[in-house]
Amino acid sequence: MQEAVELDTGRFQLNRLSSAQHRDSLAEDVRHGLMSEPRVLLPKYFYDERGSKLFDQICQTEEYYLTRTESILLKKHADEIIAITRPTAIVEYGSGTSEKTELLIQAAHQQYAGLHYLPLDVCEEILVEAGDRLIERYPELSIDAWHGDFLDGMDHFKNGHKRSLYVFLGSSLGNFSENEAIGFLRGVRNTIKDSDWFLLGVDMVKDHAILNAAYNDNRGHTAAFNLNVLNVLNQALDGNFNKGKFKHQAFFDTEHSRIEMRLLSCCQQTVTLHDIDLKIEFEEGEHIVTEYSRKYTADSIRQLLSKAGFKPQNIYTGNNNEFMLILSSCSEADER
Ligand code: SAH
Ligand code: TRP
Repeated sequence: MQEAVELDTGRFQLNRLSSAQHRDSLAEDVRHGLMSEPRVLLPKYFYDERGSKLFDQICQTEEYYLTRTESILLKKHADEIIAITRPTAIVEYGSGTSEKTELLIQAAHQQYAGLHYLPLDVCEEILVEAGDRLIERYPELSIDAWHGDFLDGMDHFKNGHKRSLYVFLGSSLGNFSENEAIGFLRGVRNTIKDSDWFLLGVDMVKDHAILNAAYNDNRGHTAAFNLNVLNVLNQALDGNFNKGKFKHQAFFDTEHSRIEMRLLSCCQQTVTLHDIDLKIEFEEGEHIVTEYSRKYTADSIRQLLSKAGFKPQNIYTGNNNEFMLILSSCSEADER
């Protein structure tokens, strides 16, 4: 993996992982995914500039309670989380707009001087936008942003800062399969020092109607976001997906405790991705799985974190058990 410092404007530095590599892995991932049974696409390809904007709109819908409830939890507990962890650096996987993380940055800013923020995201535009905003608001903050895949970049986040708080919000862990999730958590655990902390935000199992509505908002932002991945493929691989011939579908799968999101082919059709010489024949009603969103209980997430070598210390859920923030250390409280 290559790394290159592309942009450095004093307190904001953007580091870019090789984009040629991104393109090659996209081609390979898409070929492999679309030829699998069932056909699948990786969630990270949702997030081109338009995808990130659409995701931001999803977060503001009435139905998508996740962002709202996670923000409420962070507003309530940011001071305590910062007082416990006292980070000199906050490292964030899949930072997006960094709006919720800002609550932690703000709390640190009020408690002591000097903080480094290391956001990591596949969407460069959103890193720059969020970075500009934060630099302006927090005169003592410095930002080292990383553009790339957090699964490739793990080693880069072994940082020299004294105490780091690693964060993974938005229930993004739920977008992995069970094996990928444990692999990711072990990767984080191998990256971080024993004295560091890990803050994870995940969605909880609840009434199925509420879950289903969150991924089928009335205004159609989720449908637009889901369908946008076809534009990403058309652009990256010279394809001819017709968005009008696919339909968004999302439902809660009780057996696996997860939302499954799909794109359904509305008719029999052939799609070509010219750059990789791939022709795909879709039957009417055939689907591509575009995303899973796993829902957890306090027990299931505690078990997963423990398996990966973390020690969950505090679990914040709020009154209605809608969403969970789990603050984990890497050693027992009394060993610290
Ligand atoms: N943490 C934010 C954004 C969540 S959306 C929040 O809670 O609101 C998921 C974010 O992760 C997006 O910004 C997307 O661009 C990024 N992302 C998804 N897969 C990624 C990957 N494999 N590597 C790096 N970033 C990724
Ligand atoms: N991490 C988010 C979640 O699981 C991602 C997400 C929300 C999402 N809405 C979506 C992904 C719609 C694809 C489509 O809730």
